[in-house]
Amino acid sequence: MKAKSLKPMRLEDILFSQGFGTRRVCAGLIQQGHVAVDGQVQTDAGESYAPEGLQFSVQGTPWTFHEHAYVMLHKPAGTECSQKPSAWPSIYTLLPAPLRQRPNKGAVQGVQAVGRLDQDTTGLLLLSDDGAFIHRMSSPKKHVPKVYQVTACHPITDAMVQKLLEGVVLDDDPKPVRAAACAQTGESTLDLTLTEGKYHQVKRMLAAVGNRVDALHRSRIGGLTLPADLAPGQWRLLSETDLALIKP
Ligand code: URA
Repeated sequence: MKAKSLKPMRLEDILFSQGFGTRRVCAGLIQQGHVAVDGQVQTDAGESYAPEGLQFSVQGTPWTFHEHAYVMLHKPAGTECSQKPSAWPSIYTLLPAPLRQRPNKGAVQGVQAVGRLDQDTTGLLLLSDDGAFIHRMSSPKKHVPKVYQVTACHPITDAMVQKLLEGVVLDDDPKPVRAAACAQTGESTLDLTLTEGKYHQVKRMLAAVGNRVDALHRSRIGGLTLPADLAPGQWRLLSETDLALIKP
């Protein structure tokens, strides 16, 4: 994730690597005067630049070169984390084309979600085109804590909190799953911290203690909190500081 020094690259290859289309499309955009580097229109697709941090614009859209893209998205309710959603719009429609089109050696194109949230769950979702990062962040061995703000359908009792902390058995696994932390924040709300990510885990854990999830919001991954100024549906590239906060 640390910026390494990359060899100079041709402008056409820089645009291609950042997801602006095939090399041919990128060359066309440059030759037709749609690309500016550091504010100057550049029509030579073969001109070389040191890529890391290069600022350019394509058809007026400003862009900064990043070898890999690390993105946080405030997932709104009513969206699916699948590329091929079955009933609701895909979260990928919330991202600009270059993030969806970034070439990815041997794998699917563009950034991919790090794990999934349910259709009705809102909050912090990470995406990247760095396979090693996705693997590290998703690995159960890394125990990256994730904080979920739960609104339950019924009042939460001390006994429920106790059981969530001690561990509950979910139907498909005899090994109990427990919350790393569980703080009641209101009569029927709590903050639940999990370090694993089983299918519908929060909903199933609440059901296992005799309650039900009414609304679910993920507010934190590792040390990274969803920024208050990132509205539902908005995305932002992660800074080096953000990345350090979530490093497993
Ligand atoms: N647990 C759930 O039940 N749903 C989510 O979306 C995330 C965690």
